[in-house]
Amino acid sequence: MPFVQPGPDPSNPLHTQPIEFVGSFPDPQVRVEPVLPEIAFIGRSNVGKSSLLNALVGRPGLARVSGSPGKTTLLNFYRVPGFYLVDLPGYGFARAGKAARAGYRKLVTDYLRQRQSLAGVVWLLDIRHPPSADDKEMQQLLIESGRPVLAVLTKADKLTRSGLPPRARDLAESLGLHQDQVQLTSSHSKLGITELATSIVAAVGGETS
Ligand code: GTP
Ligand code: MG
Repeated sequence: MPFVQPGPDPSNPLHTQPIEFVGSFPDPQVRVEPVLPEIAFIGRSNVGKSSLLNALVGRPGLARVSGSPGKTTLLNFYRVPGFYLVDLPGYGFARAGKAARAGYRKLVTDYLRQRQSLAGVVWLLDIRHPPSADDKEMQQLLIESGRPVLAVLTKADKLTRSGLPPRARDLAESLGLHQDQVQLTSSHSKLGITELATSIVAAVGGETS
């Protein structure tokens, strides 16, 4: 386990930027001013979306993290100079009722299909689990939406160093992706966080101000 320096990481382009919470919205067509490119975080409930967002910007308490799944139920917008990070509600929440699931599906589907300012999607998968039926359904929706997607494997700290590469290979294979198309991350050990921040900044045009 490497020693991790506390405080901002000077090589992470998002750690040196101011960031502000803009608001939580139930409407996928909400007009957020100023209009800027958006990078959305999507994945199963409890996969670690809010934690990843916090790690990316170096602000542990920014997005709400919870041990009980299904806490993020709205589109949460965070503004970095030049673009927005959007924390989407998680899918596959077993205890959600039928109506809540249908509402969720509509919110996310409409956002992915219609949102003009959506520049890219960070799709999170827990490295410990094979893709679920919900993950496969989301993959289909992402393909149909035609959006640029970066697949991110979360909670890499839960595996041993030697266990990581074969697991990443297996997961990439089961998703029909090349190994280079998946990014290993851990919000706890900070593995892959600077690399992901750099990819996000590149996806929105390489500018953070
Ligand atoms: P919803 O908003 O409910 O969809 O969940 P989420 O995807 O935003 O997950 P969240 O960030 O709230 O994290 C869920 C749980 O996983 C929390 O208990 C986190 O502490 C834990 N977790 C998140 N990221 C990591 C990680 O990199 N490593 C480990 N070990 N645990 C993590
Ligand atoms: Mg969340």
